[in-house]
Amino acid sequence: MKKLYKNLGKVILVTSICSVSMNAAAEAKKKIGFIVKQPEAGWFQDEWKFAEIAAKEKGFELIKIGAQDGQKLMSALDNLGTQQADGVIVCVPNVKLGSAVVASAKRNGLKLMSVDDRLVDGNGDPIEDVVHMGISAYSIGREVGTALLGEIKARGWDPKDVGVMALTYKQLPTAFERTKGATDVLNESNYPSENIFEAPHRLDNTEQAFNAANSLITQKGQYKKWIVYGMNDQVVIGGVRALEGNGIKSGNIIGLGINGTEEAINEFRKPVETGFYGTIILSAKAHGYQTSINMYNWVANGIQPEKLVYTSGYLATRDNYEAVRKDLGL
Ligand code: GLA
Repeated sequence: MKKLYKNLGKVILVTSICSVSMNAAAEAKKKIGFIVKQPEAGWFQDEWKFAEIAAKEKGFELIKIGAQDGQKLMSALDNLGTQQADGVIVCVPNVKLGSAVVASAKRNGLKLMSVDDRLVDGNGDPIEDVVHMGISAYSIGREVGTALLGEIKARGWDPKDVGVMALTYKQLPTAFERTKGATDVLNESNYPSENIFEAPHRLDNTEQAFNAANSLITQKGQYKKWIVYGMNDQVVIGGVRALEGNGIKSGNIIGLGINGTEEAINEFRKPVETGFYGTIILSAKAHGYQTSINMYNWVANGIQPEKLVYTSGYLATRDNYEAVRKDLGL
């Protein structure tokens, strides 16, 4: 009997040691960084919001850092290294920093994933080793082109009278593919090519797009009707504002953006209709929540995430955006 108690004691001791060490492991929370290039933009705010949900669900620490330029990006990565973070998800301010980012993540012991903007190497080729989630940019661009043609038709406009403003940002592949998709659709439908104009902007924001649009408009004053597309809502809003500022009536503008986040919703809610007509809603949830879950499973359980994932988009206009958002669970 005595022996039995003694053995039982040992078992209890062993189990309690085990649970102590298991608790210790559970307490050493995993740390995951989430770096974005434009922390003030609705899209990145949403990504972070969804990443927070993943962090709560899995019990890891999410470290959110805004990095608007290369210097901030490199110090953010070092900072994560100092904090002994386990992994990082990043949307870089300049994809050409790809090789530097890969080297820094390695040096700082961070598992690396990119989101939105795919890293490229010195030759401009995508770094295929890095796990990435982005949008299916070309086919989403085609959706933009198709929706614009549909709306031109619905308004009974003659394409001969309608100027096309393509706001382009060629240094970023996902941006280039989006506008190329839209332009290809117009060309395939035999849209009068003499009416299609590119307005390249220097940075991807409303102000820079506004400036690029203004210089195009001053050269092409003969057009009283316009369609506008570009890499995202912010730049299309810049183009639309420039047209409106140059006396083109809102009803004579069809601006169609991409993202479907705060900036677009604000436009739709304006009491007086603007020339911003629609947007393609992207999945900030997939890009924020799912990337974070995948990273957690990688650092905590060694589960390798899928190398390359492309997400889709859904057209929403001023008239139906609430219903579309509801359908998408937003
Ligand atoms: C780029 C754009 C963002 C958003 C994402 C979607 O990063 O700058 O506005 O469209 O792509 O992946």
